[in-house]
Amino acid sequence: MARLIVVSNRIPAPRQRGVRSGGLEVGLRDAVRQRGGIWFGWSGATAAETSLSAQISDSREAVYATIDLSAEDYRKYYVGFANSTLWPLFHYRLGLMEFQREELAAYMAVNEAFARALAPLLLPDDLIWIHDYHLIPCGAALRRLGVLNRIGFFLHVPCPPSAVFGALPCAATLLRSLSAYDVVGVQTPVDLRGLLDCLEHIVGARFVGEDLIRVDGKLMCAIAVPMGIDTAGFAAQSQRALHAQETRRLKDSLANRDLIIGVERLDYSKGLPNRFKAYARLLKRFPEHCGKVTFLQVAARSRVDVEQYRALRRELDRLAGRVNGDHAEFDWMPLRYITRDVPRAVLAGFYRCARVGLVTPLRDGMNLVAKEYVAAQDGENPGVLILSHFAGAAQRMTGAVQVNPLDPDEIAEAMHLALSMPQSERQARWHSMMETLRVDTAQAWSRNFLQALSGESQLRDEMLLNVAARDRIVDEPPAVELARMP
Ligand code: G6P
Repeated sequence: MARLIVVSNRIPAPRQRGVRSGGLEVGLRDAVRQRGGIWFGWSGATAAETSLSAQISDSREAVYATIDLSAEDYRKYYVGFANSTLWPLFHYRLGLMEFQREELAAYMAVNEAFARALAPLLLPDDLIWIHDYHLIPCGAALRRLGVLNRIGFFLHVPCPPSAVFGALPCAATLLRSLSAYDVVGVQTPVDLRGLLDCLEHIVGARFVGEDLIRVDGKLMCAIAVPMGIDTAGFAAQSQRALHAQETRRLKDSLANRDLIIGVERLDYSKGLPNRFKAYARLLKRFPEHCGKVTFLQVAARSRVDVEQYRALRRELDRLAGRVNGDHAEFDWMPLRYITRDVPRAVLAGFYRCARVGLVTPLRDGMNLVAKEYVAAQDGENPGVLILSHFAGAAQRMTGAVQVNPLDPDEIAEAMHLALSMPQSERQARWHSMMETLRVDTAQAWSRNFLQALSGESQLRDEMLLNVAARDRIVDEPPAVELARMP
């Protein structure tokens, strides 16, 4: 079996490897373990110069190869182009997007550096799987170095249509670089439509099959594969965590009040200000919940060198103070707000005690917290998930109470509904979501993507043969051959 080379900007930090596994890590750990291979990425450290070659470290889980970034590259590539240009763009926030040519140049140069450090580690049969918006042109950089392996790319964030993406000054260059990949994956059918729309209208790509696209004369396959969690593993973990010291402390502190929980990185895509406002509306419009409910929001600090994130933190500090100032009693604090990271194993127990899971991003690629919250519930007496329409997870988790996160009143009404929902309805909603979660696991995500990448899909092979045969007759497929994804 071919080795798997995973490439991502961020790799699991050493002390966290295998202990606090995120979705990406769970999805890929088994695949790397089974196939053998390397996980390649940024060390998370800055140095005098960006590294020219990788540092290798071996662990029980995998072989890790990392490079350091110079302080200037960190600023221009990571803080700048990746997180001040691409992140807001992919989340439909043009008003927050900044663009500077020198940051774009650093982004391209760091992608080149990734490719240069990775190329010497590759064997001819390796499957290479590159992840997320930081590394879009990395495949093209590898091709320029003569790498002929099959290379796949997965975009974890949402993919907007051309009317939004086209605002990026270098949109066409970036999209063209996707032609270096054999397979490009996105989270949902909506993102796939966005991607195909960008390819068609910004770079004039042609559709030559259900999921085959010709970009600059090269064939590429585009697919939607939803990312998931280790559903059974997380369910078992949350059951165990019920008896953990932290869970007991939390329960004692609640004094029989219902718990509403929200967990995310402190990021403007997560809709946190609206959520705090919605909670204040709940307490004002439905005063029967006053003193009977506690909202715990974990918003782990993130990307603290990006100004928009610092501004968000100031806004949330103010709003949290306001909610508690307006509504607290001497013996009841309505909102508990934590900006530190809380280990996933601890959260597993917290989710299980929470009557409501609140996941209301303005835009989100998938959102695995929504899935973890549901997997953590006791099926006999489950809590209710409130989920934004604009999280990728909402497309298949129809058992959630779905809301428009831009309307704090709608979120407040959903909280009221969830807090008063009868057990039978909670059970029915939970069962319908668990059915999906048992299919859309982290393991299924990596298996399905790698199947497409390794060409194990028979259907795809047949399509490629048909296209190759047709290409010998006509150079460009006529317009009538355009076939769109549903
Ligand atoms: C999102 C992105 C990931 C990123 C993560 C944490 O989930 O899709 O690629 O690694 O956020 O962000 P950070 O900037 O800390 O890596």
